[in-house]
Amino acid sequence: MKTIIEPFRIKSVEPIRMTTPQERKTLIRDAQYNLFGLHSQDVLIDLLTDSGTGAMSSAQWAAIMHGDESYAGSPSFLRFEAAVKNLMPFEHIIPTHQGRAAENILFSIFGGPGKNIPSNTHFDTTRGNIEASGAAGHDLVIDEGHDPECLHPFKGNMDLAKLETYLDEHGDSVPCVMLTITNNAGGGQPVSLANIRATAELAHRFGKPFFIDGCRFAENAWFIKQREDDQKDRSIPDITRDCFRVADGMTMSAKKDAFGNIGGWLALNDDDLAVEARTHLIRTEGFPTYGGLAGRDLEALAQGLSEIVDEDYLHYRVRTNEYIVERLDALGVPVVKPAGGHAVFIDARKWLGHIPPLEYPGQALAVALYELGGIRSCEIGTVMFGRHPDGSETPAAMDLVRLAIPRRTYTQSHADYIIEVFEELVKIKDSLTGYRISKEPKIMRHFTCQFEPLAG
Ligand code: F0G
Repeated sequence: MKTIIEPFRIKSVEPIRMTTPQERKTLIRDAQYNLFGLHSQDVLIDLLTDSGTGAMSSAQWAAIMHGDESYAGSPSFLRFEAAVKNLMPFEHIIPTHQGRAAENILFSIFGGPGKNIPSNTHFDTTRGNIEASGAAGHDLVIDEGHDPECLHPFKGNMDLAKLETYLDEHGDSVPCVMLTITNNAGGGQPVSLANIRATAELAHRFGKPFFIDGCRFAENAWFIKQREDDQKDRSIPDITRDCFRVADGMTMSAKKDAFGNIGGWLALNDDDLAVEARTHLIRTEGFPTYGGLAGRDLEALAQGLSEIVDEDYLHYRVRTNEYIVERLDALGVPVVKPAGGHAVFIDARKWLGHIPPLEYPGQALAVALYELGGIRSCEIGTVMFGRHPDGSETPAAMDLVRLAIPRRTYTQSHADYIIEVFEELVKIKDSLTGYRISKEPKIMRHFTCQFEPLAG
């Protein structure tokens, strides 16, 4: 059969409140044109993020009832720890309330003024935690990763030559090497197992610990299985174990590929680092057998980790994005290709070429998608990455708009509706205007900054 059906039935539903384009124009104006400022009831299809917004399975809800809320030594922690170690064989698993809390702990140890931390591409919270510690983050993804149209199978790969030069030049100021799988900020593009291994080898050759940001590890493993020589006959758990076996630790947002609504962890092999991390954890998150989570959350994550590696799920998951990408491509909308694992990315800089980067073409497209179709998306471009710690502003490498697809939440007709909204947008896109930022915080401005539309 050609049709890849959603591999689940729906037992519980949430109504969507219908709104008109006229209402939405007022609602987004009242939110100062920042999509994060909208009430979710005013959104028809919420593609702001795939983080914590997925549907849990009946088995996860059942697992929640087994949650043991003991302050110390909860069996829920032991089940969670075993489920993580089954896929990511690290010595120490330290639960946190979400991924950025794990990053905060890691960079409170490794960060600090004068330090330099390379990655393929740091996600915004990772960069935020690095910079808040006084360190600097650098993105060394392969050049193909900056070309939205290039069909390279692993556009999230680390540029090994650039990394080697970087390690040579920055020497002792580099406390660790990071790698984000999949590369969210670069279009949800995967990293090959060969590149993970080579990055680890290079880091270790220079005596640097190697850390993986593993938020979307299962999608990454699925791409490895599909696209990498010698990997197609292997199981997703086997590929996953191989990815993490070469690392010294990982940060994780369990709101992605652990099917959680909340959760994360920091994993480490080094005993001394783990003592330091747990001391920080107790001060900021909680006791090491619950971190920032309830026992019931740990149960949901343990179950979620057993479901996320299901190949029927991963096939449907990635195919949904491909379906939307193929149709948008046919409409002439410039999309990042190949389709990413968790999201569809539109090249707003190219599509809205009449809006210069410092007038935020991604924001213009995101607002238009909401006004016209009630779709909430997210700018990943100059708004998110353009402002520097010294207050200066330059265009980001790309101006993308991300349609992040929550896990197991929307259906085929929602995908068709999204495509239809783009059909309408094609007709009016040249009339869209840019924005200026009227108010912004010093870091991570995209969450709370306010915009004003520029006159057309
Ligand atoms: N690393 C990556 C690659 C991420 O995508 C995220 C979150 C984090 C770290 C931080 O994890 O949210 O649990 O604190 N990404 C979400 C997104 C917010 O929408 O892409 P967190």
